[in-house]
Formats: sequence, C-alpha cells, structure tokens
Amino acid sequence: MIHRSWMRSQGFGSDVFDGRPVIGIATSASELAPCNVHLTRVAEAVKRGVWQAGGFPLAFPTMATGETLMRPTAMLYRNLMAMEVEELIRANPLDGVVLLSGCDKTTPAMLMGAASVDLPAVMVTGGPMLNGKFRGADVGSGTHVWKFEEELKAGRMSQEECFFAEGCMARSNGHCMTMGTASTMACLAEALGMQLPGSATWPAVDARRFETAQAAGQRIVAMVEEQLRPSSILTREAFENAIRVNAAIGGSTNAIIHLLALAGRVGVPLQMSDFDALGRDVPTLVNLMPSGKFLMEDFCYAGGLPVVVRRLAEAGLLHPGTVTVTGKSLADNVSDAQCWNDEVITPVTEPFQPTGSGTAVLTGNLAPDGAVIKQSAASPDLLTHTGPALVFDTAEDYHRVADDPDLDVTADTVLVIRGAGPKGYPGMPEVANVPLPAKLLKNGVTDLVRICDGRMSGTGYGTVVLHVSPESAAGGPLALVRTGDRITLDTPGRSLTLHVSDEELVARRAAWSAPESPYVSGYTWLYTHHVTQANQGADFDFLHGSRGPGVPRDSH
Ligand code: FES
Ligand code: MG
Repeated sequence: MIHRSWMRSQGFGSDVFDGRPVIGIATSASELAPCNVHLTRVAEAVKRGVWQAGGFPLAFPTMATGETLMRPTAMLYRNLMAMEVEELIRANPLDGVVLLSGCDKTTPAMLMGAASVDLPAVMVTGGPMLNGKFRGADVGSGTHVWKFEEELKAGRMSQEECFFAEGCMARSNGHCMTMGTASTMACLAEALGMQLPGSATWPAVDARRFETAQAAGQRIVAMVEEQLRPSSILTREAFENAIRVNAAIGGSTNAIIHLLALAGRVGVPLQMSDFDALGRDVPTLVNLMPSGKFLMEDFCYAGGLPVVVRRLAEAGLLHPGTVTVTGKSLADNVSDAQCWNDEVITPVTEPFQPTGSGTAVLTGNLAPDGAVIKQSAASPDLLTHTGPALVFDTAEDYHRVADDPDLDVTADTVLVIRGAGPKGYPGMPEVANVPLPAKLLKNGVTDLVRICDGRMSGTGYGTVVLHVSPESAAGGPLALVRTGDRITLDTPGRSLTLHVSDEELVARRAAWSAPESPYVSGYTWLYTHHVTQANQGADFDFLHGSRGPGVPRDSH
C-alpha cells in the first residue's frame, strides 16, 4: 500500500500497478549542462513508447556533468555520476531503464552505472547540435574555440568578432557537433549495441531524435520480457567492435579511458594496448572535425553510424554477431544501411585517412604504463621528433608565461605539462593541448610536441602526447623530467623516450617527493584516494565489477 498510495499522488490509476514492467528513465537534463537540457523533452518521447508497449514509465533526474562549466573538470565527477546512476537504479523498484545522456562524461557515467546493476537498459543520447555557421562557413564546437583563440592571439581576429562567432557556433540544443567526446561516445554506445541503430547521429532538434527515443521506450519493455541485460551485450567482442569503430570515425582519445572503465565494470579484460593493436588495421572513414572538415549533421545525412558499421563489417573488420538492444546482431541491424555522401563517409577502399593513422599507444621510459597520441589530429612532420624539454609542473605555470616574448622556446621544444593526471589535478582535465606560446604563433609556428599526463578535449588537435601513465603525482617518470632533457617521440615505433640515464633517474627519484594533496575531506579526498590511473580507466578501485540488480532489504 505504501508503494502504490504515494505513487498515486501523481495521478496514476490503480490499473498501472497490474504487474506491468516499471521502466525508469534516467534523465541527466540540467540548465548547468546545456548539452543535456532538452533531455526532458526526449524523456517525454520515451514515455510515449513505454506506455505504447504496455510498460509503466517513471523518469528521474541524475546529476549532469556539464563539460563547459564544471571545475576543476567534469571528469572529476564522472565516477560520482556513475555511482549515483547505479544506486538509483538498484534502490528503486525498476525492471528496466532508459539512459538519457549527451555531454561527454554523461554517456560513460550512465553506461558504467547501468552495467554495474545489470538490469535491461537501453541508451538514448541527446543528439548533436546543428552545425555551427559563421560567415558562410561551418564552425565546429570546441575545434573552432581553439582556432579562434589562436586567431585572436595572433591578431587576426578582434574580440568583437570572437563574441559574435561564439553565438554562431552553439546555435541549437544538443551536444558538440564535432567528432568530440560526446559524439564519439554516442557512436560507441551504438557500436557496443547499447543504443538503437542510427540513434547516435540524429541532431538534437530533429524530429527523428524523438522518434528514436519513442522506439527505445517501446523496445525496453520487450527487453525486460526477454531479460536482455548489459552483461549479454557488453562482451569482449563488443568492446573490440567499439575500438574499431572509434578508429573508423576518428573518435576522441577520451573514449579510451571511458571504454577501459566500462570494461572494468563488466569484467571484460581490456588494456590500453588493445586500442593500438585493434585500431591499426582500420582506416578512418568519417571525415569530421577535428581531424577532417565536416560535422555531425553531415554525418547524419550521409547515413550515420550504420553506414560505418556496415562498411567495416563487410570488410571483415568487425565481429558481426554481437548482440544489441534490438535483439538482433550488430551487422543484421545495418544490413540495408545506405551511404548518401561518400565524401563524408568514405569507402574502405578509398578512406579519408589510411589505416594506421588512428590513435597510437606509446610506451617507453617516460610512460611505462602507456600514453596515447591521436595521429590524425597531429602534424605528420612532428610524429617523429627529438627536442629539448621545457617543463611546467602545472598548466597554470605555463599559462603565466605563454605570452612572454622572451620565453626560451623554439619550434623544436618539447613542452611538458605535468601535474594534470587523475590524482594530480585532480580529475585529469583537458589541459594537454595548451595553446602555443605567443612568440611562436607570431612566427607562424602552428604546432609543437606537447606531453602531458592529462587529457585533451575530443575536439582538440595538435601533436599532443596524452594520458602519460603513471602520472607525475603518482611518481611516474614524468615527474623526473627537467628542462633541457632531450625527449624522443617516435610514433611509428610507438615509443616515448627520455634521454636520461637510469642512474640519473634513480638519483632524481631519491630527491623527489609527492606533492602534498590539499584535500583532507569530502568527495575530492575520496577521489584522490581511490581513482585508478588512466591506463585503467580512472574509475574508482572500489567500483570495478558489477554488483547486480539484487533487491535490497525492505524500507519499512
Ligand atoms: Fe557538452 Fe561538448 S560541451 S558535448
Ligand atoms: Mg570535451
């Protein structure tokens, strides 16, 4: 009586308590996360579908980790959101759940939480914004922020022009419409089999975004009857497919961390090196910013992710038989997918970028547990480079001197930014692709090798070595580099080498002590004590694994 009576205060008749599946709709809408704000409307479409199929839909809010406003970084809160999603699903009397996400971290957080409960779940991402349009040209979220910033610094754009441009860039609801982390994770949710085919690319304001949401509402009711759970979908083969699709779409480096964390939740063994090994023979088919020139709207109208999946499957580059939320296999879902623009989604035989140009995983005495570099976003001539290090303990230290005309920096310099790892910052922010020193920009230098234990925005570009593991704050060798040391980046050889003898490094380590953490209580304390390194997904050590959907003890 307690359960029913209070629910009836919302106006439900007693007939909805007839044993039909109760479907939770986890909604990360928030005005503080503009990429997700329209998800309340998406939830209404999901509800229609649930009612249609004979279920009982109940929407509930989750936190929303908005990428643009949260400090020190939204990534600090991905694990908190995942915990919240997991606990809300388990604590409430739900039979299945629809996950509504959009902005970068919200998609992995939802997937991680749902995977650890393992009730039937389907994802509906909120869709990208319409293409940015500025002075007759397409402008991409994120990507053009960095470009405009450089134009402003180099004196080629005025502040007034920048103010005008920012309104032209984000001109509708939706997440970033470049192939940044949000679009990448939406596509990978589809490639993993967790969202309906075609769902990743419909623009947020397109009628078909709501149509696909309604279809997901219908489908989750059937999934409850079939007891189709994330553990049947998120298999090692599904992750291998996602890694290959990530290479084919020129996806974000952040996907590596999120997939590693998600794999940890379902007990699938996955390592950073898998991304190199599995991505190596996959050509990049999708010509989208930041690596290419188009945007998500173009990708959608060209046929979207189903075309990519079909092309990779036909080339023998995917496991075609993985189970998806449709109940059918990944390849069966897209057997009639058609491409309407081969310039946006290129054929495998004439790819936008050749095989082996995707994200490479490097190791060496500077990154014993690995580091990554997105080759397609880098300058080809810098992928193999040796130069003297210019070291900064924090990104702020660099920013303070970046515009100094006397900064001792040349085009050969290897800029090292440390203290930006999961524990060190904390939260592993997207600060690795720091803007170039003004002195070099004025001389026409457009790129510089940068090495960092932090991340780079999925919309960013440059020859930037990321996710150096272990991070400096955890005592990784990055902590021992000194200005003037020579460093070799050898991307084809997959190595990152600090030319300092082992004896010297031992001596430097003896003199090194870990920076003291100012966090003695609160969530950030919990985070710094329990976050794993980037090569393990930067999840909390105590959240690995699935805790299942068991119904907890009675509350009354
Ligand atoms: Fe939200 Fe880019 S800022 S998706
Ligand atoms: Mg981002």
